[in-house]
Amino acid sequence: MDKSSLDPDLIEQLKKLQQKYAVMGQDLSSYLDGLLYADYLTYWDYIHLDTLLSLQNPKTQFPDEKVFIGYHQITELYFNLILWEIEQIATKENIDEKFFGARLTRMVRYFELLESSFIVMVDGMEKDQFLKFRMSLLPASGFQSAQYRLIEICSTDIINLVHVEFREAMMEYSDIEQQVEHLYWRSGATELASGKKTLTLQQFEEKYGKSFKQTGMKYRDCNIRKIYLQHFPDSPDVIKSLREFDQLANVLWPLAHLKSAARYLHRDPENIKATGGTNWQKYLPPRFQRIMFFPELWSDHEKEEWGKAGVMKALQ
Ligand code: HEM
Repeated sequence: MDKSSLDPDLIEQLKKLQQKYAVMGQDLSSYLDGLLYADYLTYWDYIHLDTLLSLQNPKTQFPDEKVFIGYHQITELYFNLILWEIEQIATKENIDEKFFGARLTRMVRYFELLESSFIVMVDGMEKDQFLKFRMSLLPASGFQSAQYRLIEICSTDIINLVHVEFREAMMEYSDIEQQVEHLYWRSGATELASGKKTLTLQQFEEKYGKSFKQTGMKYRDCNIRKIYLQHFPDSPDVIKSLREFDQLANVLWPLAHLKSAARYLHRDPENIKATGGTNWQKYLPPRFQRIMFFPELWSDHEKEEWGKAGVMKALQ
């Protein structure tokens, strides 16, 4: 081949590119000029490494506060990936089992990683340091993780997130507005006697309350539970993945998280107050919350035993 002539494959590629740009009324040659002057992409620019590493800003001098911030951020990134899978499922036209199952498996995997890595919190900071720097974080709390709430809202029907005391009675109301009033976490951060909301809850609702309601409406017919019931109610593989997801999101991760609360906030004879102001010993244990995204997938016995991790694993 003459050295000055172009490789036929390359010419073919150029033709295809020309067609692609012509469809949009664009001139390929200008874009080729752009390519000529553009810098090569680097790893650090692509993942915005400098920005990412500029986001850990402790409020105190205690070195372990950086561990606390970094691990929260890692968790939020995984929450974001889980929500991304949920969105793909919810918006997929003509969804089939392969697509649904593959995304569910990813969601399960992310939660498994979150559960197993929680040891970074439980055992990765000095208690003395934690108890001091947490005082500078008042009244912020992981309770205010909007992505955690969105995972809940997009995974099931709102009725399954209603506080257990009201859940059965509210079954008959299909009105999401009413159900939202009794979301379990709103009750958890409200004083029963006075009805007064904690500041943590007030601020959280001010920022996100509206968008949670909107998301609840948007996902009323396309949340994970609805898609399962509509399309794959009898698939053993789907059911297996959904059970795993339910257990990880509502028992195993909460138990791993609870361990950290117990490690840092439990001190005989009294308990140290949570930064978000809940009565954490009564609020956090999954056996009290009894949140299940897919209640129809659990037997009465399994429901009774909800929140006891050892039992749940044995039942698999
Ligand atoms: C030493 C580590 C941690 C301790 C001691 C702790 C403690 C607590 C406590 C006491 C609550 C109850 C709400 C309140 O009154 O503040 C809570 C809620 C919560 N925390 Fe943490 N937390 C820790 C780490 C984390 C991490 C790394 C995350 C990841 C985002 C997280 C996410 C959450 C969520 C989502 C809730 C709400 C749970 C629910 O409503 O059931 N926490 N945490």
